[in-house]
Amino acid sequence: MKDFIAGLPKCELHLHIEGTLEPELKFELAARNGLELPYATVEEMRAAYTFDSLSSFLTIYYEGMRVLRTEPDFYDLAMAYLRRAAEQNVRYAEIFFDPQAHTSRGVPFDVVIRGLRRALLDAHAQLGVRAQLIMCFLRDFQAEYAMATLLESLPYKEWIVGVGLDSDEKGNPPAKFAAVYERARQEGYLLTMHCDVDQDDAIEHIRQAVEEIGVDRIDHGVNILEDQRLVEVVLARGTGLTCCPVSNGYVTDSMKAEGIRKLMDLGVRVTVNSDDPAYFAAYVQENIEALHDALQLSREELARLQRNAFEITWLPRHVKDAYLTEIDAYLS
Ligand code: HPA
Ligand code: ZN
Repeated sequence: MKDFIAGLPKCELHLHIEGTLEPELKFELAARNGLELPYATVEEMRAAYTFDSLSSFLTIYYEGMRVLRTEPDFYDLAMAYLRRAAEQNVRYAEIFFDPQAHTSRGVPFDVVIRGLRRALLDAHAQLGVRAQLIMCFLRDFQAEYAMATLLESLPYKEWIVGVGLDSDEKGNPPAKFAAVYERARQEGYLLTMHCDVDQDDAIEHIRQAVEEIGVDRIDHGVNILEDQRLVEVVLARGTGLTCCPVSNGYVTDSMKAEGIRKLMDLGVRVTVNSDDPAYFAAYVQENIEALHDALQLSREELARLQRNAFEITWLPRHVKDAYLTEIDAYLS
């Protein structure tokens, strides 16, 4: 099964590029930028990754990305991820980036997006892996800052397929960003947002995301199982859920494998993704393997998870169909 998973054409839809920053690259960028790190070695740094909740993870995540300063830093970050993705037979990725995590510490928006964009173009040409960018707003900052970031992104609209919402969900409901999302929709961006696992008011947040904001996808969102009516709404709309089992195991009490199984059985377009692989020590392949270890999925079910993913991508129909044909060919 491990070989079967390795060869399966894959799609990654929940991946924070800043969460792919491996300790080795952190040291390299710190040296390049003349910065001191509070750890002597890669092993010491990894040993400090001791989070057990979303907020304790986020503290380490934001601290880690301070080494990202220049356009080549962002290029190297994205290129390193895309190389790993290509090795795991990821054929297509929609990649989150957090511009406010950089602009808030003085790194200009255009430095971030130009570096990322250049890597996406080179990776497509050199590695055959295709990717698009999703710009996330940080929900623990004010809505006005998100709106300013949205306006700042408009000259780069052709390089950004949609918007997302991440960071600390506690006390930061989707409705706080209703006006930002409305404007993003008017500008032609597609819409997703995090509804993280086991948060306070999880169901109310999912309801706002689906009914008030009208998102195309939900990132995580397994708590939807607690509300039959909302499950029916996402089934009727074909809304996709981008789940991240290994990440769930770090920030909650479990991988939520049974929940993912249930969503599959209900026919919800659920997918398996890696979230922050440098911190959770699992890229998409290891996430699929972990879910398979928990659920003993069949080949057809493993392929279905990838079909779901390509189906809910923000790609034109004929491009989706070409990837779905690759999966059919692989299965037969
Ligand atoms: N949830 C919220 N914010 C994040 C995450 C996540 O899983 N990863 C990086 N920022
Ligand atoms: Zn995430």
